[in-house]
Amino acid sequence: MKPLHELVSEFRKVSTPFYYYDIELLRETLDEVKKNIEGQPFAVHYALKANVNRKILNEISLAGLGADCVSGNEVKRALDVGFAPGEIVFAGVGKTDREITFGLENEIFSFNVESIEELRVLNDLAGKVGKKMNFALRINPNIDANTHEYITTGTRDNKFGITLNELWESLQLIKALPNVDFIGIHFHIGSQITDLGRFKELAIRINELQTRISEAGFSLPHVNVGGGLGIDYENPDTSPISDFRAYFQLFKKHINLFPNQILHFELGRSIVGQCGSLISEVLYTKPGDSTTFMILDAGMTELIRPALYRVKHVIQNLSSVEGSDIYDVVGPICETSDAFDRGISLPKTKRGDLIAIRSSGAYAEVMSSRYNLRDVAPSVYSTDLS
Ligand code: LLP
Repeated sequence: MKPLHELVSEFRKVSTPFYYYDIELLRETLDEVKKNIEGQPFAVHYALKANVNRKILNEISLAGLGADCVSGNEVKRALDVGFAPGEIVFAGVGKTDREITFGLENEIFSFNVESIEELRVLNDLAGKVGKKMNFALRINPNIDANTHEYITTGTRDNKFGITLNELWESLQLIKALPNVDFIGIHFHIGSQITDLGRFKELAIRINELQTRISEAGFSLPHVNVGGGLGIDYENPDTSPISDFRAYFQLFKKHINLFPNQILHFELGRSIVGQCGSLISEVLYTKPGDSTTFMILDAGMTELIRPALYRVKHVIQNLSSVEGSDIYDVVGPICETSDAFDRGISLPKTKRGDLIAIRSSGAYAEVMSSRYNLRDVAPSVYSTDLS
């Protein structure tokens, strides 16, 4: 793991903006995940939605994780890079018939079903394809994850999963469906969760539900708690790896698994978030009335998170270190929301300086767009640098 400012001369050889991925850090993160689930009845599926870069996926698949997909194309990508079909789960509130059929034909491990209507459709399509399909029922546990409202998914008002009120009706229906096998329950309460107490609340809710479901006559081999473990956006250098130990221990301590039950996780951000940085060059600096605008060649097209959620990523000047000034760091896109941060202190910056926007491994490259007919930013990997 080389500090980014030591890579300036390497970075100068590439045209900006680009995503830089520290593959060594990704490997260390994966080792930490594996170390903390060893010997436990735990299975981790990487949530592809966080980053579908093939090189990153190769590393994750080589590390032995499964895959969590939310579209037919993600399932296809997971299969292409070598994830075993039997380790792929497929979630999403709006799966099309074509996507479901694709999953069925490829014999993925399980669908996370999000509504009673979807369950009927899955049963019908499985009948047509002539295969019996595993599914887990996604239940909305009505727990507030205490995170940004746009990425809260487990409260009553969110569109995800069946409500607790529908559970009984769903269980009755399941008994009548011949082409599907009810193998588990699935939850996901939100993303970028830093208060582990939220997961404890989820564990306790799951215990109650498990009792109700087994009283209804089901014995389920799988429980899936989704993803959501947050990363430290403020301190990417001093805390580059999330506290997986505390996270997995919490579930170990608070979830009452039945004998032989397997607990599944769908982690995205905490696996890939810190290994990526968006590297950009300063095009111009110009004085405003109350600030100086630092205009980068990267914008909301390469990293939309600050514009969409008003969240902050650490911004560093890699090539100038002297003096300081207050800047609004903005992109070139024709929208005022195209700003990475405002009123922040950075070393005196000039045209041509190299800027790193940290913690851009998750939900950056995957959420990029070609708005303003921008070029697609390439990726550079630490393992390819001399
Ligand atoms: N499982 C399900 C069902 C999900 O909906 C998600 C994320 C995950 C797993 C993975 O969650 P993670 O471990 O990455 O927190 N674009 C937003 C994040 C959206 C997350 C959507 N669902 C952002 O940039 O913050």
